[in-house]
Amino acid sequence: DFGELAEGLGYKAYAVGGFIRDLLLRRSNLDIDIVVEGDGIRFARAFAEKYGVRARCHKKFNTAVLIFPDGLKVDVATARLEYYQYPAALPVVQFGSLKMDLYRRDFTINTLAVALNPEEFGELIDFFGGQKDIKDKAVRVLHNLSFVEDPTRILRAVRFEQRFSFKVGKQTAGLMRNTVKMGLLSKLGGHRLFHELQQILMEEDPLPAIRRMGEFELLAAFHPSLRYDAHMQALFARVKEVISWYELSFLDEPLESWWVYFLVLFSRLSRKELKQVLDRLEIPLSRQERIVWTYNRVDHLLGTFFRLPDPRPSDIYRALQPFRPEELLFLMVQATCEDVRRIVSHYCHRYRHVQTELKGRDLKAMGFPPGPLYSRILNDLLDARLNGQVRSRAEELEFVK
Ligand code: CTP
Repeated sequence: DFGELAEGLGYKAYAVGGFIRDLLLRRSNLDIDIVVEGDGIRFARAFAEKYGVRARCHKKFNTAVLIFPDGLKVDVATARLEYYQYPAALPVVQFGSLKMDLYRRDFTINTLAVALNPEEFGELIDFFGGQKDIKDKAVRVLHNLSFVEDPTRILRAVRFEQRFSFKVGKQTAGLMRNTVKMGLLSKLGGHRLFHELQQILMEEDPLPAIRRMGEFELLAAFHPSLRYDAHMQALFARVKEVISWYELSFLDEPLESWWVYFLVLFSRLSRKELKQVLDRLEIPLSRQERIVWTYNRVDHLLGTFFRLPDPRPSDIYRALQPFRPEELLFLMVQATCEDVRRIVSHYCHRYRHVQTELKGRDLKAMGFPPGPLYSRILNDLLDARLNGQVRSRAEELEFVK
C-alpha cells in the first residue's frame, strides 16, 4: 500500500532501519520506519486520508507519524531530494538521497532498506554492509566521527550489542573508548543522557548492558563514583528475581520495571552524590524529591519497622501503602532478610486491595456529622478489616456503632 501510494505521487518509498534489522533477525518490531524520496509529509497526509488513519506531522523536520488504531506506528521521514542547478538553471533531481539518509545513521546494522514501490517491491538495499554485520553479529559505525557527532551512540552501541548478543567491532570499540576519553559524554544534555539510560534499563535484561557500561567506563558519565562491582551485580540479579515474581503474580498490573533498576543503580551513592546525578540527568525536582523520599523511607523501614516482631496486618498496610509497586520491589531488593520479602509479598497479595464496605455516604446515612471524623472512623474500620476483626458489612456496622 505504501509503495503504490508513493508510486502514484512519483516518489520512492523504503522501509528502513530497525524494522528491517529485526526482520532479518526474526525479532518482532511494531515500529516501522519509512523513508520517502519525495515529500514525506505529503505522502503521509495522502496515506492518512486514503486509509482513514491519523497522521501527526512535524513540518520542521519534514517527518510524520502514522498512527493505526491497533497501536502500530509508522514513522515517515523525507530523504530530501537535492536539486543541483545546471548553468542553465534547470533543476535536476540528484538520486541517491536514500543513501545519504542512511549514511547519517548510527550503525551498519541499522542501514538496511527494503524498496516498497511495486516494481522493485521487496528488494533489499544494503549500501554499507549491514547484512554481513548482522551475519557476523557485529555492531559497527559507518565512519570514524560517528560517536563524536552523537555521543549517545556509545550507549546505543552497548544496548544493541547486548540485546542481540552481538559484539562491538574492534575499531568501533576503539572509537568508543576515544570518545569517552575525550570527555564527550559530559557534553551531552541531561535529558538525552537520561533517555539513553532509560532505554538501557528498559531492555528485557538490562544487566549485561550495565556490566558492559562498566567495562567501557560509561557509568562514570553519570557519576565518577558509580561502579559495577560484585555487589551491584548481586543487587541487579535480585532485581530480576523480584520483577519476575511481581509480573507473574500480578499479570495485569502495569509495572515500570526499569524504575526498579534505576533506584538500585544509584542506591549506594551518598545523598550529595545522588543530588549531583539527578541534577546531571535533569530529573524534575518533584521526581527527585520522590526518589530521596523512597531511599529514606526504605532505610527507615528496614532499620526500625521490619525489626519489630509480629507486625499486625494493619501496621504493615500503613507502612507499605505509600509505596508504588516499583518502590516496593526496591525495598524487597534492599532487604537482606527473607522475612521482609515475605511480608511485602503478603502485603501485595492480601492487604493491598482491602477496602471497607462502608463508605462516607453510609456514615452520613447513619447520622454522623460530616467532617474529619469520617476519615478517622473509616481508617479504624479498615484496620479492623485488615486485622480480621470485622469480615462483613454487618460486622462493620456493628463496629461503627
Ligand atoms: N539513529 C541514529 N543515531 C541516534 C539515534 C537513532 O543514527 N542517536 C538512527 C538509527 O539508525 C535508527 C533510527 O535512527 O535505526 C531510528 O532510531 P530508533 O527508533 O531509536 O532505533 P531502532 O533501531 O528502531 O531501535 P529500537 O529497536 O530500540 O526501537
